[in-house]
Amino acid sequence: MLYRLLRPLLFKLPPETAHCVSFNAIENARKLGLLPNRPMACQPRRIMGLDFPNPIGLAAGLDKNGEHLDTLAALGFGFIEVGTITPLPQPGNPQPRIFRIPQANAIINRLGFNNQGVDKLIANIQCSDYRGILGINIGKNFSTPIDKATDDYLICLGKVYNYASYITINISSPNTKDLRQLQNTEELDHLLCALKSAQEKLTELHGQYKPLAIKIAPDLEPSQIDAIAVLLMKHKMDCVIATNTTLSRAGVEELPHSLEAGGLSGAPLTQQATRVIRQLHATLQGAIPIIGVGGIMSAADAMEKMSAGASLVQIYTGMIYHGPDLVQEIAQAVCTDQ
Ligand SMILES: Cc1cc2nc3c(=O)[nH]c(=O)nc-3n(C[C@H](O)[C@H](O)[C@H](O)COP(=O)(O)O)c2cc1C
Repeated sequence: MLYRLLRPLLFKLPPETAHCVSFNAIENARKLGLLPNRPMACQPRRIMGLDFPNPIGLAAGLDKNGEHLDTLAALGFGFIEVGTITPLPQPGNPQPRIFRIPQANAIINRLGFNNQGVDKLIANIQCSDYRGILGINIGKNFSTPIDKATDDYLICLGKVYNYASYITINISSPNTKDLRQLQNTEELDHLLCALKSAQEKLTELHGQYKPLAIKIAPDLEPSQIDAIAVLLMKHKMDCVIATNTTLSRAGVEELPHSLEAGGLSGAPLTQQATRVIRQLHATLQGAIPIIGVGGIMSAADAMEKMSAGASLVQIYTGMIYHGPDLVQEIAQAVCTDQ
């Protein structure tokens, strides 16, 4: 309600400024005790061996450096994913690099993994009081050649292993050159082999198994989705997150900013992401859980993702357009439907 009043003001600011202003406002609301301050409790769901208090998560990218965990937790998320984080800090692409398309409830971004590096992320996590389920999304540095990408994932995996509830391998951002090539069968087979072997060693070292999720793009051909599903089963991956932003401009053609380079998210992505989830579900047959993300702008969108086969969902752009109340709204609908 309050967000509906504030949104026109926030949307007058450049997106990255609005992001800071919003976090400050939410942080103040939390300190004043105006937020629910805990996840709405559904029938807990056990996915990847973890107990999720509710199935609504924050998608990667909103809190890249894990700076706002306590504030985000107060919004009622059942889990939070931070990152994408890379081994070394990097500035990302020059600004402006986020564009709102309000006529379509959409965003185009080409941030390019701007982040403060994995060590800073860990320091931030250590400072926070958050004890809920934490996904850490990892990627490769801009300067690392694509044929050395595995090294970057392994560096991040080793460093975050102790701090994450699960770790997401991001091979689907459209804003890091050639990253999506890692979804090709040969490259993915090699990457998953290296990751699973590292996971085995880390499990022994730390005495704890941490699940690995792979985040994929919505722009894959049906045959590619099937090939990925087969590899995920071959390597006994723990989860698949579908999907990242799209390179398609369907639904925003002719609108201002539609020709900006980057990944499109929000309402135009809803059906495209759901189609990927549906196909994955059909191929995986429940062997590997799916986290559904992409254009969830309402409780009905979240329910549709779950009907298509998602065990959990994540939101990002929906929060930008509808505010933090969307978390409770979705949680309420999903929990009552159980
Ligand atoms: C501004 C912005 C930054 C994002 N950064 C990341 C990121 O760092 N890593 C990642 O895996 N996904 C990132 N995403 C993708 C989201 O996590 C999500 O997969 C995508 O936006 C689709 O969901 P939505 O329509 O609810 O936003 C980003 C999305 C946006 C809008």
